[in-house]
Amino acid sequence: MVSDGYQSGFGNEFATEAVPGTLPVGRNSPQRVAHGLYAEQLSGTAFTAPRGANRRSWLYRIRPAAMHGEFTPFAQPHLQGDFSHGAVSPNQLRWNPLPLPATPTDFVEGLFTMGGNGSPEAHTGAGIHLYAANADMRGRWFYDADGELLIVPQLGRLRLRTEMGVLDVEPQQVAVIPRGVRFAVELPDGQARGYVCENFGALLKLPDLGPIGSNGLANPRDFETPVAAFEDVEGRFELIAKFQGRLWRADIGHSPLDVVGWHGNYAPYRYDLRRFNTIGSISHDHPDPSIFLVLHSPSDTAGTSNMDFVIFPPRWLVAQDTFRPPWFHRNIASEFMGLIHGAYDAKAEGFVPGGCSIHNSMTGHGPDAATFDKASNADLSKPDIVTDTMAFMFETRGVIRPTEQAIAAAHRQRDYLACWSGLRANFRRG
Ligand SMILES: [Fe+2]
Repeated sequence: MVSDGYQSGFGNEFATEAVPGTLPVGRNSPQRVAHGLYAEQLSGTAFTAPRGANRRSWLYRIRPAAMHGEFTPFAQPHLQGDFSHGAVSPNQLRWNPLPLPATPTDFVEGLFTMGGNGSPEAHTGAGIHLYAANADMRGRWFYDADGELLIVPQLGRLRLRTEMGVLDVEPQQVAVIPRGVRFAVELPDGQARGYVCENFGALLKLPDLGPIGSNGLANPRDFETPVAAFEDVEGRFELIAKFQGRLWRADIGHSPLDVVGWHGNYAPYRYDLRRFNTIGSISHDHPDPSIFLVLHSPSDTAGTSNMDFVIFPPRWLVAQDTFRPPWFHRNIASEFMGLIHGAYDAKAEGFVPGGCSIHNSMTGHGPDAATFDKASNADLSKPDIVTDTMAFMFETRGVIRPTEQAIAAAHRQRDYLACWSGLRANFRRG
């Protein structure tokens, strides 16, 4: 099973076949599919969702997805899915990178839940995980029935071998695996680390652009969906499912990556964050970070996302008579931030690639003392350019409830609050 290329576009009606003549013409489910294949529909939205939001694909495969043994619980204690109870402090929280494993650990075994909100049952909220792995998934495939997976590599490339084709991603690219799609993860560099947002809510989509116009931010043609690729392999294998917050395993006698052709608009995709068309102020003031929105999961309330994926890419800073870095703020939304590459312009130190932070609803945060002093005294007569950076945010409507393992982790920075302690009261009356 090799990567044969990609199809460009976001949510397009794709059509791809690894063996010529596989896709039926004029019907989705003919009496007999070419080459002796089975037809199977994979629905990602309600059958009756409006046409503009409706997502489904037809898969033409060697064996139907129903063929596997009985599911029984699979133990992976670091992957957690219940965000409904437990104390949530209003503290600012920050972590160093998740340590790489010392023993052979594949992608599923290497998932470590940081927190989340909502629930898969209610189709709202998101789970936020890290991964650190050093082994390929061999004879094992995974699918997540609870949400679509937005995978953000920070260290090492990933080869995502999915039912619908192969996605290769490297740091500064991201991948989205739709709810239910089966896949295995290989590590071409031998080890990998990154972030995962498990979106329980409405499918990620490109934002409307309003007054920005018809181009800008993430452009649809830069999203890439794989062409069909399959393997016809039998053996004693394992299928792992995430369902209602827990992992399950079943024996499977063949590779589920046996889709010879498919068509539809429900499929995995990748996006290179370096292609983002970054827009900002050319007069004064730092815009709200929504100007950096790549993808979002809408909620039932107009203008209020279930989850936003926002990036802070390289950019020019030209605003005049302005504090150029992100300002001090408290928001109703809750923020999980990560750093993929370089440095983040609102923190002088402590926020390192692979690290992360949580600032929950109404918790004050912003630049640290060193960044404040530097920006307050910067020469604004000249533009500045931020070149060596790629930070991101999973911003959620619901409060992010950290897991106990995240709070107890040795790599949590217990002195994080001290980064603001050097801010002096400069007030002078008159
Ligand atoms: Fe923030």
